Amino acid sequence: MNYISIAIDGPSGAGKSTISKEVAKKMGYLYVDTGAIYRTVGVFVRTHGVDPRDAENVAALLPQIKIEMRHVDGMQRMYLNGTDVTETIREHEISRYASDVSAIPAVRAFLLEMQRKFAQTNHVIMDGRDIGTVVLPNATVKIFLTATAEDRAQRRYLELCAKGSDITYEQVLEDMKRRDENDSARAIAPLKAADDAVLLDTTGFELEQSISAITELIEKRVSDETV
Ligand code: DC
Repeated sequence: MNYISIAIDGPSGAGKSTISKEVAKKMGYLYVDTGAIYRTVGVFVRTHGVDPRDAENVAALLPQIKIEMRHVDGMQRMYLNGTDVTETIREHEISRYASDVSAIPAVRAFLLEMQRKFAQTNHVIMDGRDIGTVVLPNATVKIFLTATAEDRAQRRYLELCAKGSDITYEQVLEDMKRRDENDSARAIAPLKAADDAVLLDTTGFELEQSISAITELIEKRVSDETV
């Protein structure tokens, strides 16, 4: 069977996960959040007191890491060596750990097959940074979502406030810019749009507008593909 795969890439806070989740529900596809996998590695590295930029020591930890992704009622849950870390990976500090470990080639190689396997056995919407360029270069549809750093920081700030965080908007914006720089400037699989990706700037968009625009685009491409 030929499986449909939708690649959604873009910087942090562009709305990738919220939009992908909704579109997956509408289309009946499996949503795979690949950032969660890098975050899970980040949790392990933090637990072991290793500097996430220390490529050699991070690589040495990899054989001890077993990551599982399970989908429960359409929700993705992450397990690290059998422990559910779904909530821990969302801690603010883990964003930095994930961004740092994701620049290490050994980490990317370690996680690549796991991501590809999902797309070989399911219709998927996968979101990340390098899905259209590296993980699924033959994806049925590739979308690159962007928005200004200020717009993205504002959304992330509201999300964190809703969770009870006392972080300031300025801190979120600064972290966002640091991560953008980190994710775009790294030598391996940097954040960039695939040549054949559709670019969508969601600055100022209401969530529903982005969801409809993307669903429409996907439905059209998928039906073109299957006629
Ligand atoms: O999407 P996110 O913010 O949860 O991702 C956390 C970090 O993981 C992000 O800073 C970059 C990295 N990442 C990556 O390098 N490649 C992916 N496919 C997904 C995430």
